[in-house]
Amino acid sequence: MNPRIGPFLSLRTVALLVGLVLVAVLPWQHLLANITDLPPSWNSIFKYKEETLESIFPQVPHFSSASELFSSLPSFFAAMRSFFVTVALTAYYALVGAQSSPAVDAYIATQSPISRANLLANIGPDGSRSSGALAGVVIASPSKVDPDYVYTWTRDAALVLKYVSEEYGRQQVPALRKVLDDFVSSQAYLQTVSNPSGTISTGGLGEPKFHIDLTAFTGGWGRPQRDGPPLRATALISYANWLINSGNTSYVQQKVWPVIKLDLDYTASNWNFTGFDLWEEVSSSSFFTTAVQYRALVEGATLAAKLGQTASATGYTSQSSNVICFLQSYWNPSQGFVTSNTGGGRSGKDANSALASIHNFDPAAGCDAKTFQPCSDKALSSLKVYVDAFRSGIYPINNGIASNAAVATGRYTEDVYYGGQPWYLTTLAVAEQLYDAIIVWKAQQSIEVTSTSLAFFRQFSSNVQAGTYASTSATYTTLLDGVQKFADGFVEVVAKYTPADGQLSEQYHRNNGAQLSAKHLTWSYAATLTAFAARDGYVPESWGAVGASVPPQCGGSQGPSVQVTFNVRAETVWGENIFITGSIDPLKGWSPENAVALNPANYPIWSVTLAIPASTNFEYKYIRKFNGAVTWESDPNRAYSSPASGSATINSVWNTSGTGSNLTSVLTSLLSGLWNLPWSRALADFSGSPDARRQNLPSWVHEVGA
Ligand code: NOJ
Ligand code: NOJ
Repeated sequence: MNPRIGPFLSLRTVALLVGLVLVAVLPWQHLLANITDLPPSWNSIFKYKEETLESIFPQVPHFSSASELFSSLPSFFAAMRSFFVTVALTAYYALVGAQSSPAVDAYIATQSPISRANLLANIGPDGSRSSGALAGVVIASPSKVDPDYVYTWTRDAALVLKYVSEEYGRQQVPALRKVLDDFVSSQAYLQTVSNPSGTISTGGLGEPKFHIDLTAFTGGWGRPQRDGPPLRATALISYANWLINSGNTSYVQQKVWPVIKLDLDYTASNWNFTGFDLWEEVSSSSFFTTAVQYRALVEGATLAAKLGQTASATGYTSQSSNVICFLQSYWNPSQGFVTSNTGGGRSGKDANSALASIHNFDPAAGCDAKTFQPCSDKALSSLKVYVDAFRSGIYPINNGIASNAAVATGRYTEDVYYGGQPWYLTTLAVAEQLYDAIIVWKAQQSIEVTSTSLAFFRQFSSNVQAGTYASTSATYTTLLDGVQKFADGFVEVVAKYTPADGQLSEQYHRNNGAQLSAKHLTWSYAATLTAFAARDGYVPESWGAVGASVPPQCGGSQGPSVQVTFNVRAETVWGENIFITGSIDPLKGWSPENAVALNPANYPIWSVTLAIPASTNFEYKYIRKFNGAVTWESDPNRAYSSPASGSATINSVWNTSGTGSNLTSVLTSLLSGLWNLPWSRALADFSGSPDARRQNLPSWVHEVGA
């Protein structure tokens, strides 16, 4: 059968024409033009400029001789194949029409091999950009300056290895097996490295990043970050399950399980402590962290049981029920989204929730909302709220885009890192969540619209009502096609701002899409590949989300806290008051409105005693409020690490240095400083024996100078 297109052209004729065009546009000239040992007259025939060709065919290498050409033929043909696929798919969809976007098919066909190659390039010891990295070490990015990302972050590495393990499960490429085994050994060692967060048994697993020779990074950082251990456990559990299914249980018992167990033990005993979020900025509890902790404990309990580790299995299961209980508390019912952090003083609309949904996707759990499955009403509503937050003109590249079409998205709208830009991995997370949702709707052959997800679905059918739509209904088709197009739109955004050579940095510019921040970010490459796999309908293994039950009463109280007394010496005018705010929950997450008031009973010392999470690093500042006006202390932020137990007192003096220092204010503060020195105490102390005076000196010097 040879269908006709219009009265004259048969499909076969069209195919033939397309084929001819393909052959004509192949870069033959590029191949030949680079061979310098050809007769000169030949070269003049090849009129195309190299740069133009390079931008179209980035993978085609340069040849300086015919022999080099022949040795490079395999990669040339690989490049040609992806070119053919691209053009053929474009032609195919143009002719027959299809639900999914040909532009996206084309992008995926070219980008997939590029992403795979670049991802592996950043893994030691064999990766071409991994120089200095030990075996199994994933470099966040080879960028050495602006920013320096030549470190291994536990989170990034785990997410990359989660992809590698899933990919290995799909097709057993030996090079991936080596990466997985190297990762197992490298992490077994890394867990033993003492670092500023602690040792293997005192919290060191929460350290976020290390040098690529696996020595500790000892500079200041937002630590600990408690998503690393559960994410690493998840990556390793996925590999362990594959190994067990292929009859290699002894390697799992001896090598893989011990690493997983340490991470899960850490998670089981630390999930209720605060820590820094995945963006390394807010110290509080964070949805993504809690969500991945839940998943790891659940699948970890199953693996433990399989390996006969019953005590571990019981422990993980009992903590997991506390964790899922706590997980529900992030949901903001009145506004229909997940508030990403309990601290931080931001809107809470954050890629955090989409990332949690895709990394906790369990196709067997359907659209379960307790575990925030990608197609659950809560996760879809949250996704809409997050995406819409980027429509409001903060990114000029989103201007003019219809209110129900895809846009570039970033971490969260208040972001200022590198000027606050869209990120590839966050834009891709939106697409991936939607592709995951489509997988489930197709499998269950229906779409359920609830009052919670109504606004999300109305983007695709403006008067759809709550209800369940079977795959035989027109509404199902409308919604499914709408979501598919919407999802493809996010990949198109990424495609649009991917340079011709397919390199992906961390961010792209909000004004023009130009790349910025870390080049070749490993996580960006992984994010393309997991989104593409979801679009292809690849169904990951179930991890046991199905049947999750939330206990009526949440157990496992928040972690231990210590009493910290904040004393600050500050002169105020009548009606002016002193407050404190900072990076952690009890300090109201940098919110001047909610800042905690200090008590002037010992004026000019203002004071407050607060319960602060134990063993926690945080930053803070004092502020003044006078007639509604807020004045902050000058930079830098104050920083403190709370002790593991007991109590602590911090004595400080209001910090004005650098703020509006005109002569009068300098003189005033100098005078008031002198006036307020504890003269009486100094004099009193002066009266005793020389030894007693020496003893007393530190206490008041500290009080003045801190
Ligand atoms: C601040 C950024 O927001 C954070 O995500 C990043 O990891 C650190 N700076 C270090 O570059
Ligand atoms: C900054 C990101 O915010 C953080 O999530 C990531 O771990 C590091 N960069 C390294 O890629």
